[in-house]
Amino acid sequence: MAKYTGTICCLGAGYVGGPTMTKIAEKCTDVKVIVSDLNQARIDAWNSDTLPIYEPGLEEIVKAARGKNLFFTTDVGAAIKEAGIVFVAVPTPTKMYGFGAGCAADMTYWELAARQIAEVSESPKIIVEKSTVPVKTASAMARVLDAQGGTKFVVLSNPEFLAEGTAMKDLENPDRVLIGGPQTDEGHKAVASLVSVYERWVPRDQILTTNVWSAELSKLVANAFLAQRISSVNSLSAFCESSGAHIEDVSRSIGTDPGIGKKFLNPSPGFGGSCFQKDILNLVYLCKSVGLDDVAEYWNQVVVMNDYQKERFAKKIVDAMFNTVKGKKIAILGFAFKKDTGDTRETPAIGICNVLLEENAQISIYDPKVSEQQARQDLGNHKNITWAPSVYDATEGAHALVVVTEWDEFRTLDFAKIYKQMLKPSFVFDGRNILPHKELVNMGFEVHKIGSPGPLKFD
Ligand SMILES: NC(=O)c1ccc[n+]([C@@H]2O[C@H](COP(=O)([O-])OP(=O)(O)OC[C@H]3O[C@@H](n4cnc5c(N)ncnc54)[C@H](O)[C@@H]3O)[C@@H](O)[C@H]2O)c1
Repeated sequence: MAKYTGTICCLGAGYVGGPTMTKIAEKCTDVKVIVSDLNQARIDAWNSDTLPIYEPGLEEIVKAARGKNLFFTTDVGAAIKEAGIVFVAVPTPTKMYGFGAGCAADMTYWELAARQIAEVSESPKIIVEKSTVPVKTASAMARVLDAQGGTKFVVLSNPEFLAEGTAMKDLENPDRVLIGGPQTDEGHKAVASLVSVYERWVPRDQILTTNVWSAELSKLVANAFLAQRISSVNSLSAFCESSGAHIEDVSRSIGTDPGIGKKFLNPSPGFGGSCFQKDILNLVYLCKSVGLDDVAEYWNQVVVMNDYQKERFAKKIVDAMFNTVKGKKIAILGFAFKKDTGDTRETPAIGICNVLLEENAQISIYDPKVSEQQARQDLGNHKNITWAPSVYDATEGAHALVVVTEWDEFRTLDFAKIYKQMLKPSFVFDGRNILPHKELVNMGFEVHKIGSPGPLKFD
């Protein structure tokens, strides 16, 4: 199969569309890549010096390719017309109304995208599902596309496995690229075309090809398994706190078993991000819709446990501070759902701050990448919030500091300075277990972490 050298376009210039298309443009200099979005502000930002999303390594590649073979536009129709391969990376949030509310995926954006592709296309196209979608979305999409008659479309599933914060590394060296296609001659040809794009930098044996449904389901299952590990560790962190065991010791001990592996065994105040919860709920909905209620309930517990952990961490703060945080200044260190991203979607920080705000605390938040406007919006513009330009501003006159995001800069702060300027007793709640706990205890802090009985004591 000849390598694909036509134009590629992508609908959706978000956390997935932006980085994935940038990587394709970098690796396929003979391919024109157009990233299109309906959101003018987002496209303006992609065309400016301040990109709309933060990912380590992204800015350099965008600046090198932009205007050469990488373009950002709101003219979605023209982008579709010009392209032979159309990626669709639009949102698939949890549906909040009607049948399946709170569980099923809301496919409104998807259907609109399909209708737009059908309306403007004048030549045959390969349509690539990049968004995470329910199983059998490709067949629904094919029906919408084919209903227009005339133009030929083949719909492939090519779910994205990048993780925010390491997106550019993940795209450079993916564990695998997964492409699902119809098991027909046309389907095989379309799959080969897309393989020829990735093959420029991904070894062929790491490009897996399956039928469409296996590819769609694999993405939901991958996220469900990763989230399940986090909930499993977090459930045991609660047990460690009541029993005298330390969760790090347990994680290290079990992680040496190759059947378990070392990754995703860190305790936390719960997982966040736009994907894990919505993808599990989607899987739950799909299982229920085929009558597999027990299977659905099994996966649902992963989300239940995550909610439990978020609430448990917030309650631990209030309990330790003599059961009242009313009027007390509490410094929140980190608001993003993980380090190296400015993304706050489903961040555990929202739930934790909301509990503290309900208890009438004064919250001072610092995060190196999240915008003040975004965090204020996430917390309903509550009046008891201040936005701090540094950790030192956030902790000045505070009763407690709470680590919510595992930013590296929190590991090496001037803790003596922080201790001096905080009220006494000075509480530390380390939701990521990244601070030098022994040093802090020796300085005089009262330290609580996840997965060990608190306050911490060292002999
Ligand atoms: N964020 C992640 O880490 C990640 C990883 C893997 C998969 N995914 C999946 O990828 C999909 C996109 O996620 P995201 O985080 O990039 O979302 P996002 O909200 O950051 O970006 C989606 C963009 O699509 C645009 N859009 C909506 N309808 C459009 C249309 N008809 N034409 C053009 N643009 C349109 C929106 O304006 C928005 O800018 C979701 O299904 C998500 O589950 C996300």
